[in-house]
Order: sequence, then C-alpha cells, then structure tokens
Amino acid sequence: MRREYGAPVSVGGKAEKIKIGLRTESQNEPYYVMIKNRLLQDIPEHMKRMKLGRRYAIITDSEVSELYANNLSRMLNNSGLPTEVFVFEVGEKSKTLAVCEGLMEQMSSKGFGRDSAVIAVGGGVVGDIAGLVSVLFNRGVPYVQVPTTLVAQADSSIGGKVGVNSVHGKNLYGDFKQPKVVYIDPMTLRTLDKEEYAGGLAETVKHAVIKDPKFFDYLENHTEEILRRTDYSLLHLARTNCSIKGSVVEKDPNEKGMRRVLNLGHTVGHAVEKLANFEIIHGFCVAIGTVVALRIANMEIGFPDGDLERVERLLRTFGLPTIVPAGISEDDIIKTTSLDKKAAGGQARYALPTMIGKMAKFGGSYATYVDDGVVRMAIRASR
Ligand SMILES: NC(=O)c1ccc[n+]([C@@H]2O[C@H](COP(=O)([O-])OP(=O)(O)OC[C@H]3O[C@@H](n4cnc5c(N)ncnc54)[C@H](O)[C@@H]3O)[C@@H](O)[C@H]2O)c1
Ligand SMILES: [Zn+2]
Repeated sequence: MRREYGAPVSVGGKAEKIKIGLRTESQNEPYYVMIKNRLLQDIPEHMKRMKLGRRYAIITDSEVSELYANNLSRMLNNSGLPTEVFVFEVGEKSKTLAVCEGLMEQMSSKGFGRDSAVIAVGGGVVGDIAGLVSVLFNRGVPYVQVPTTLVAQADSSIGGKVGVNSVHGKNLYGDFKQPKVVYIDPMTLRTLDKEEYAGGLAETVKHAVIKDPKFFDYLENHTEEILRRTDYSLLHLARTNCSIKGSVVEKDPNEKGMRRVLNLGHTVGHAVEKLANFEIIHGFCVAIGTVVALRIANMEIGFPDGDLERVERLLRTFGLPTIVPAGISEDDIIKTTSLDKKAAGGQARYALPTMIGKMAKFGGSYATYVDDGVVRMAIRASR
C-alpha cells in the first residue's frame, strides 16, 4: 500500500515499503524501497518471489564482502538462488570503466549471461559501479540495491543515477537506471565507522532542511540516540530520508528541474572537496557547503537567523565541520564552482531555502545565480 509522504508507519514484523513511482522514457513501472531492521535475512525469500533472473551476481567491495556480501550469497544459495560474489578493491579510486569491465569479464567467464541479475551490496561506490554494470552487461540486466552506508541508504540507492569517474571529473560516464527493488537494513550501519556515519548525517540534515521541518525537529531532539545508532533512530532516518529523496526524484527522474533542490550545499561543497584533493569526505564538504548556502540565503532571500543557528548547531553536534578550511581561498572556491559540470554557461547556481523545510523557487527554477560578492561574504562569515 502506498504510504503518503510523512504519514506514520508501523514498526513490526513486516518491512515498510516506500513506493518510488517514476515515469521515464525507458521506465514506467514503480519499484519499492523495503526497510526493516535485520531485513538482510529476509532478502532470499523476497528475491525468490521477484524472479529477476536465473543467476545472481553480487557486486561488492573488499570490505563489505567480508561484512555482509559473502553471508548474503550463502543465504541466497541455500535458498536455491545460484549466486556468486564479485569483489573490487574498496574505495572511490575503483569507480572507473576499467573496474566495471573487469567485473563483467569475470561474470562472463563464469557463464553469466542475459538471464542474470546484479545485486549491489555496499556503499555508494558499490551502487554506482554495480548499477553501471547492470546497464552494460549483455545490453542490460536487472539490478537490486542493498545499501550499507548511511550515504547509500539516504541518497545514492534512491534515484537511479549510476556511473563512474573519468580523469576529467566525477560521475561523467553513466546513466539513469532504476533498480527493481532496494533492500535497506538499517542495522548494517552499526559497523560503519564514525566519520562515514557522520557524512551520511550531513545528507540527512540536508534532506530535512529541503523538505521536512518536523524531521528537522526530530533530528534536533534525538541527537543522542542518533549518535548511539539505536534501532529506532536508524530505522527512522532510513524511512524519512527515502521518503524525502523519493518524493523529489519521482517528480524529476532525469534531473531537469526540481531535483536541483537536492543540490543544497553541494555547489560550494563540491568545490571544497575538489580543492582539498578529495581528502575531506564528501559529507563533511556538504556540511560546510550547506552553511555557506544558508548564509547566502540569509543575505539574499531572508532565510531566518534563528534557522541558520539551528542548522549550524545540529551539524556540529553530529561532529560535522561548519567552517571553510583556512587553506582554501575565496578566489579558488569561486573559480571552482564556475567550472562545476552543473554550472550552466560558466556561472554557478545555488539551491537555497527560504526557511527550514522549504526551498525557494526562482522563476521556473529551483536554483539561482548569486553575485560573487555575496558568495565571498558568505565564505568570509564561515571562517
Ligand atoms: N548515485 C547517486 O545518486 C549518488 C548519490 C550520492 C553519492 N554517490 C556516490 O557514492 C559514493 C560515496 O558513497 P559512500 O559514502 O557510501 O562510500 P563507499 O561506498 O566508499 O563506502 C564507504 C566505506 O564504508 C565501507 N562500508 C560500507 N558499508 C559498511 C558497513 N555497513 N560497515 C562498515 N563499513 C562499511 C566501505 O567498504 C567503504 O570503505 C561516491 O562515489 C558518490 O559519488 C552517488
Ligand atoms: Zn552529496
């Protein structure tokens, strides 16, 4: 049954289902995000009913293989679903076409063909690589996401963007391809290291600021449980993040308009990430970029002082940085934002909220140009 966005859900034996109803040229059917603590053990039974293929290729990285993927493979095989695990070296460096090719060659050598399905078990890197493999392998086979990081559960497993990096930039080679189903077991986040978890919290705060003031209140009032990763808090983060991201991508599957709101904090965030040579994790850069964007919104469209203070405080409580690192200059940030692949005509655009929970619309668009002088002031105030 369709759960309307924001409606209460029961916590019980059955997994909660969030429907993602996308209509694109190539895809017309909705799919479900299934969420339940300890869902991993239910995946084989559910996949048997999905009947996605005759053979299953789990794609994972060298850390998640030991933690979850080998186990899941064993369970699938025990349930009569022939499965093999294909592992690549952990890390963003593996997000290349060469790694995808290597995985596909191994799959072909083992006799995988058109009747196979791909299962991505891991973080965003795994999802992006496995998703692209599923686009290319035998001209396309179905794929399933089993996200195991907060970034992946909150963000990358929903929305169907798949792809790999080029020496010319991140995510330049890819496609939009929706999975057949997403299985989220929030308990997997218990083994995630503290920084990776905090990085996902930055995207979580971003979602609340974009669309859900009540969720923002929840985050503020439950920081201790969230940091302890209690059963309920992890479940609640997963369901709310997925509802928010799902409701945005449903309206704009191919990133032509409304999906721009998801870019809050990412204009300056991406620049900081690049200028720090990718040594600061993405979520940390998003936290910094969000604070700069909110200062711009504060100066330009009246984003309230009180809301700015609340967001900064929450990010800090979650262990996230809120100031622009001293070694990164205003000039470099401005230059880098204008080179970003989303900067139309060499000028950066900013997604900006008018208050916590509401994004501004500028004419027909959810992003706007901002004078360099204003951006500079916002950066200076964030030192
Ligand atoms: N497709 C999209 O829409 C989208 C959106 C956001 C981010 N991304 C991409 O996602 C990537 C970042 O994802 P990420 O942050 O998940 O990184 P990641 O996949 O590299 O995972 C981070 C680390 O956590 C480990 N890990 C994964 N699950 C674990 C668990 N449960 N317990 C312990 N360790 C675990 C991994 O092995 C890795 O070392 C980037 O490449 C980014 O471009 C894509
Ligand atoms: Zn992000």
